[in-house]
Amino acid sequence: MPETPVLYVLNGPNLNLLGVREPAIYGHETLADVQALCEQAADGAVVVFRQTNHEGELIEQIHEAREKASVLVINAAGYTHTSVALLDALRTLTIPIVECHLSNPAARERFRHRSFVSPVATGVVSGFGPFSYELAVKAALRLAQEHRATADRSVQ
Ligand code: DQA
Repeated sequence: MPETPVLYVLNGPNLNLLGVREPAIYGHETLADVQALCEQAADGAVVVFRQTNHEGELIEQIHEAREKASVLVINAAGYTHTSVALLDALRTLTIPIVECHLSNPAARERFRHRSFVSPVATGVVSGFGPFSYELAVKAALRLAQEHRATADRSVQ
């Protein structure tokens, strides 16, 4: 486990269009704005921030996080509600996982109520727009510290 926590923040499909995509739901801030918020909130921790529109690529990124991250924040976007492969990939991680959404899927269409991320997430932050990411990063930092403390204890 690295000394300085390494936070992977992974973003799924269509989030590259943040700011222009359905602004009434997702707001006017761009993904670059969200990245800047995460970096500020990370308080010196390393943030690896990625976005992909491809399911397989997202899974590769999860595999990378498995090797390199202290904690994972993930907004899998539409794949949240559809992808067993995503859940299978997340199940291979031993680090804490924080599920994050800009909107509150539970208050939206029925098909968004199911999440393939929630069963393996320590917690979920949703409904606060870009502030969801800020909260998720804060929670992730706390979890990374706790996780490291637990790992340290287990080697004594
Ligand atoms: C989302 C919610 C999902 O239901 C949707 O498919 C997205 C974005 C969110 O951040 O609110 O693409 O994950």
